Amino acid sequence: MLEEKIRSKKAKIGVVGLGYVGLPLAVSFLKEGFVVIGLDISNERVELLKKGKSYIDDVQDDEIKPFVKNGRFILTTEYSSLEDADAINICVPTPFTVTKDPDLKYVIDASERIGEVLKKEQIVILKSTTYPETTEKVVLPILERKSGLRAGKDFYLAFAPERVDPGNKKFPPRTIPAVVGGYTKKCTKLTALLYSQIVDRVVPVSNPRVAEMTKLLENIFRNVNIALVNELALLCERMGGVDMWEVIEAASTKPFGFMPFYPGPGLGGHCIPIDPYYLSWKAREYDFHTSFIELAAKVNEDMPYHVIQKLQDVLNRNGIVLKDATVLILGVSFKENISDTRNSPALKIMSLLMHRVKKLIYNDPYVPSVSVDGKIFDSKKLTRQLLKGIDVVLITAAHRDYDYRWIVKNSRIVLDTRNATKNIRAKNLFKLGLRK
Ligand SMILES: NC(=O)c1ccc[n+]([C@@H]2O[C@H](COP(=O)([O-])OP(=O)(O)OC[C@H]3O[C@@H](n4cnc5c(N)ncnc54)[C@H](O)[C@@H]3O)[C@@H](O)[C@H]2O)c1
Repeated sequence: MLEEKIRSKKAKIGVVGLGYVGLPLAVSFLKEGFVVIGLDISNERVELLKKGKSYIDDVQDDEIKPFVKNGRFILTTEYSSLEDADAINICVPTPFTVTKDPDLKYVIDASERIGEVLKKEQIVILKSTTYPETTEKVVLPILERKSGLRAGKDFYLAFAPERVDPGNKKFPPRTIPAVVGGYTKKCTKLTALLYSQIVDRVVPVSNPRVAEMTKLLENIFRNVNIALVNELALLCERMGGVDMWEVIEAASTKPFGFMPFYPGPGLGGHCIPIDPYYLSWKAREYDFHTSFIELAAKVNEDMPYHVIQKLQDVLNRNGIVLKDATVLILGVSFKENISDTRNSPALKIMSLLMHRVKKLIYNDPYVPSVSVDGKIFDSKKLTRQLLKGIDVVLITAAHRDYDYRWIVKNSRIVLDTRNATKNIRAKNLFKLGLRK
């Protein structure tokens, strides 16, 4: 019956946590004709959505408004609303603690509340990135204890990681295959059938642990490779005469066996800087040290400090000491063309700079204001006058909105950590990854 409900798109889909992952997921199901029950603990978010307003870059207001109006997108803060759902997707945050241990409090809270309302024949799918065994050893026992039901028998349970790359228009959600690992074969089969309604390809794997580890491998792969190019960028700076960006471009012409990764001021976002720690924490339980992860973390976490050092060096060469400098940060989101500032290296750099320079300001067309160590900064309007009045521009996110030639022309010094000024040659332009 559940299978038939999914095939005929009569199944009701619960989405718990309507953020960067949950909201686009809800939209995918809505567009395919499903009724979606969207649940978030944030009253503010639910109220905005009820008005047809999106707060996520990748979701436009007109993608949700019609469904809110026709009653197919039900928005709530009440877990009891999930009683009507046939499938419940958990898309809550999985951050780490200050000591970089996994913080599963959101997953645990959501599982407990779902457990209280769980009914027979419902599918529960964890989508939040986490360490292997979370689905079976954390979520499953909570659901069973709270509901009195049995996983695999009374209800179905799976892990299906989210693989979306926010802001990436080249790969819309439908084109990204869904990896699905169910607690039992039937759990996998039903979850795969459900996801095949919204993506072109589903990849079933043996169990939730494989799916959990798959997601971590993907993110650790990025983390480690970024660390590799960051390290080589530092070497290029020391050697002189080699531009790391040119090297990557040349290496990228190899049609096989190479994939470009780029240096930068540090890692950001909710995934790449956090997820590897989930695995290194788990590995310790097995007396195992994930050396690649730890080495990559060291290299990547040093990058904001290196940028400060380079900034200081560039200023010195122009006869300015750091403490007297006025600095403009360009781009505070963690990557280009989006507004997400979570764990942004630009904010780390601002935190390191704010008490060391005479004046620190920023501009970002996507981020009107940011809080750094409790101090609120507002984005300054980028004018010729502003550029002329400051000592150094530090490019930390390569937004497409900027006219870099104009910026370099009108600034005293520019330090580019993203190769946003590619193809521009100027005496006052300095770059991460090459000595100048
Ligand atoms: N952002 C990404 O690009 C991305 C990509 C792939 C995977 N992920 C993973 O997906 C998960 C969610 O990330 P996100 O970026 O969507 O986070 P987010 O912070 O954008 O959204 C999470 C939402 O969950 C809500 N929430 C928290 N606790 C809740 C609870 N108990 N019940 C209901 N709602 C609750 C929050 O209010 C928030 O709206 C994380 O595990 C993350 O690692 C994120």
